[in-house]
Amino acid sequence: MDDLKILTYPDDFLTTIAKQITNIDGSTQEIIGKMADIMYEAPGVGLAAIQVGIDQSMIIYDVSHPDEDRKLDVLINPKIIEKEGSVLSEKEGCLSVPDYRADVKRATSILVEGVDRDGNPLRFEAHGFPAIVLQHEIDHLNGTLFIDHISALKRRLYKKRVLKELKNRE
Ligand code: CO
Repeated sequence: MDDLKILTYPDDFLTTIAKQITNIDGSTQEIIGKMADIMYEAPGVGLAAIQVGIDQSMIIYDVSHPDEDRKLDVLINPKIIEKEGSVLSEKEGCLSVPDYRADVKRATSILVEGVDRDGNPLRFEAHGFPAIVLQHEIDHLNGTLFIDHISALKRRLYKKRVLKELKNRE
């Protein structure tokens, strides 16, 4: 496997719908390892396989406090079964949307299903910050970025800025 790197907006691949993983094998574990390296180095609290150019339904995240021991969570084929409540996720950001933050409306609590890296089925509730991270990462697997949740005007302004910066780099 080639080295992975984070794709950034407006890379078309970020709009890809991830495919269900039917076989968790050594290459899956290798991808998880590489994704974790990238996420911790960035640093970020979550990363979806789509963001590193892999169209598989898999996310990793770590919502432990920076002073605590790190705890990597892996969720394969995640699905949000139920959503409840509404909260403003303030200044949300994304490794694929550099130098930009915006407030996004998210559900307060969610019920999630998926499987862990060993193939064991999982079903759990998440509240608050972990719920926001999960909604953000699972969005990636559906080709959705957090800026798809903000106003069209704000999104256009951000796009304009990115395109201008890309042009200046040429
Ligand atoms: Co993101």
